[in-house]
Amino acid sequence: MKAGHKPGQVLLRAVDLHKSFPGVRALQGVSLEVRSGEIHGLLGENGAGKSTLIKCLSGLYRPDSGTIWLGDRPVSWSGPRDALRAGIATIHQELSLAPDLTVMENIALGREPVRGPGLIAWREMEALAREALGRLGVAIDPRARVGDLGVGAQQMVEIARALSVDARVLILDEPTAALTQAEAERLFAVLDGLRARGVGIVYISHRLEELYRLCDRVTVIRDGTYVGTYPMPETPEATLVQAMVGRPLQDRFPRRQAAIGEEALTVRDLSRGQVLQGISLTVRRGEVVGVAGLMGAGRTELARAILGLDPVDRGSVTGLGRPVPPGNPRAALAAGLVYVPEDRKRQGLFLNRSVRENLSLASLGRLGRLGWISPRAERELAGRWVRELGVRTPSLEIQVATLSGGNQQKVLFGRWLATDPQVLILDEPTRGVDVGAKAEIYRLINRLAEAGKAILMISSELPELLGMCDRILVMRAGRLVGEFSRSEASQEAIMRCAVGAGAG
Ligand SMILES: Nc1ncnc2c1ncn2[C@@H]1O[C@H](COP(=O)(O)OP(=O)(O)OP(=O)(O)O)[C@@H](O)[C@H]1O
Ligand SMILES: [Mg+2]
Repeated sequence: MKAGHKPGQVLLRAVDLHKSFPGVRALQGVSLEVRSGEIHGLLGENGAGKSTLIKCLSGLYRPDSGTIWLGDRPVSWSGPRDALRAGIATIHQELSLAPDLTVMENIALGREPVRGPGLIAWREMEALAREALGRLGVAIDPRARVGDLGVGAQQMVEIARALSVDARVLILDEPTAALTQAEAERLFAVLDGLRARGVGIVYISHRLEELYRLCDRVTVIRDGTYVGTYPMPETPEATLVQAMVGRPLQDRFPRRQAAIGEEALTVRDLSRGQVLQGISLTVRRGEVVGVAGLMGAGRTELARAILGLDPVDRGSVTGLGRPVPPGNPRAALAAGLVYVPEDRKRQGLFLNRSVRENLSLASLGRLGRLGWISPRAERELAGRWVRELGVRTPSLEIQVATLSGGNQQKVLFGRWLATDPQVLILDEPTRGVDVGAKAEIYRLINRLAEAGKAILMISSELPELLGMCDRILVMRAGRLVGEFSRSEASQEAIMRCAVGAGAG
């Protein structure tokens, strides 16, 4: 924290910002004020304009109109470096690391310590990275290549980079979406410390628990307009949700009336090195089975092995009574098994393709004959899933890259639902999705279960597993270490099991 900022002093203010893109009015008069020593939450539905607002604040976008004030001085950033130099550090929603550089190079990027002209001070750079990672309490090798790290670790590097800047204002756009609970707690402790030192923090999250845990005030925006600013923690959840979606929201976890039928997915002794060790499980028609565990427990690896995306050493997978040969994703798809991956950027969406193309991609075989695809059938299919999932997009032809984060997630979900699967493996299905859209996705999962589909759902959000699953399996270090029925399951019991502190 730079000296001389009294707590409560306004550090950064956006007044009546407007910003439009072709066909979209993303911001239509949004204001936000960040004071020294506060954590200011920013809440709004997917596509409400949160990321656009902070991109204006951090110099990535130039607003069409409106004013940004730094203290009592109006500013107009010529680019992100400008804002950074003025003490505004931002962690964007989409990771922005250079995958081919090392962790320490990424942390120091643009301000590498030097020993002379053209001579980089590597030791100093490594020390800087170690210090920044140490504050977060994460054991990541500063010399590792960023591209070799998992999403969660990459997110921690991104946070470490922002922390190493010593900013006056720190902006975080959904920083915990890829983090485990323990990592998130580390981050929260760091943010508490920065607040105590007078830093002003803007914090975007769809997880209301986090906003209650962290924030002093929360500003809600809806459809690019300012709705209000609320003191925390005294504002009730229902008030925030109503401000955000414009109407009261009923059940967070809607009820399901699915008859549980025959076994649809049977996994026996699935093993791969240390990563998966003798995993056996079943999911019946109409059943929603959760998989809990810490990052690195092997949950995504399990999903990929079931789907044949990774090779296995031994074990078998049976879908609807028929063996699914290992290492053959096409056979898995043909057997009615689909996997909706967690990392939509790297394993899923074709960002420069249209919403229509992304939605129809896995169904092309059914949309035409002899290699000819009926454009009308393709449009109908895409249109149907845009409606079913409530994807907010100005058209079917727009590039997926321009959709908000949560809407991108829905498109990926829709692609696999469009194949009419019988067994769905969902990996963090609501990551980055707003509360209203979450409830829509839960309702959709319920409809699928009621239609006799079998669902295996990997999630790091325990409330979501507890609210949605008939049974919850817990993984630790490549093994299944616990199973809880709906009535036995509790957040504490699952956590204990996941970290290995007592039996499940
Ligand atoms: N570069 C862009 N080009 C075109 N449209 C864009 C661009 N960036 C954002 N938009 C549109 O602006 C609107 C607001 O998007 P924004 O990313 O700010 O939403 P958000 O509140 O951050 O949502 P989420 O919670 O899903 O991250 C959306 O309709 C989005 O499609
Ligand atoms: Mg966003």
